[in-house]
Amino acid sequence: MFDRIAARYDLLNRLLSLGRDGAWRRALVRALDLHAGDRMLDVAVGTADVALQVLRAHPQVVAVGIDPALAMLRLGAAKLGNRHPAGGWHLVGGDASGLPFNTGVFAGVTIAFGIRNVPDRLAALAEMARVTRPGGRVGVLELQVPDHGPLQPLARAWVRWVVPLAGRVLSSADEYRYLRRSMEAFPSPREFSSLMAQAGLTRVTARPLEAGAVRLYVGEVPR
Ligand SMILES: C[S@@+](CC[C@H](N)C(=O)[O-])C[C@H]1O[C@@H](n2cnc3c(N)ncnc32)[C@H](O)[C@@H]1O
Repeated sequence: MFDRIAARYDLLNRLLSLGRDGAWRRALVRALDLHAGDRMLDVAVGTADVALQVLRAHPQVVAVGIDPALAMLRLGAAKLGNRHPAGGWHLVGGDASGLPFNTGVFAGVTIAFGIRNVPDRLAALAEMARVTRPGGRVGVLELQVPDHGPLQPLARAWVRWVVPLAGRVLSSADEYRYLRRSMEAFPSPREFSSLMAQAGLTRVTARPLEAGAVRLYVGEVPR
């Protein structure tokens, strides 16, 4: 599915987030507390926007990305190669529920707008925790239709009408209808935080961004 929308994916992201998606990914990267020499992993890396933010904020960190959609990875590799021709990044094909990395090799692991698409979320979170070193953080960024608050009616209308319409006009109707359905079906912040705890993460926080339309979840791997 993501291979089919890859070409227009970045454009739709900018439009549908009103240009805010970069700020959300920057908040995710800040939450990892990375340092020079660290290696981080971005799961569901897509067109590599999180990896680009990592390398911009921390030129001495190695960013590794994994995703099963090869068309997304190709676009990501082109962007990374353009801006970071000397390297400091690696992209690999693969699935969140079985990460092809040794235990505890990353200082931090992220997934941005990706966990919603993974059928076995607990397995994916447990894998992300497994490959993170003790004391390292796992950060999850996800869209959410807020169930109350000042932005709730606007966010609901946006997801019901604007997202499918923009998808139909600029990309692919089915895929952006799926985005709406998957957002509406995503667990509440309390339920998702509890899933992170079940995956072995501690000190789990769920910070609302944009009045709750986006959530930044962070958990720590016990020492
Ligand atoms: C909405 S995009 C997010 C891409 C990127 N993280 C970003 O911030 O723009 C969702 C990504 O999840 C990937 N994905 C879907 N199922 C997956 C799975 N089982 N394991 C890992 N990634 C998956 C898709 O291929 C796609 O690139």
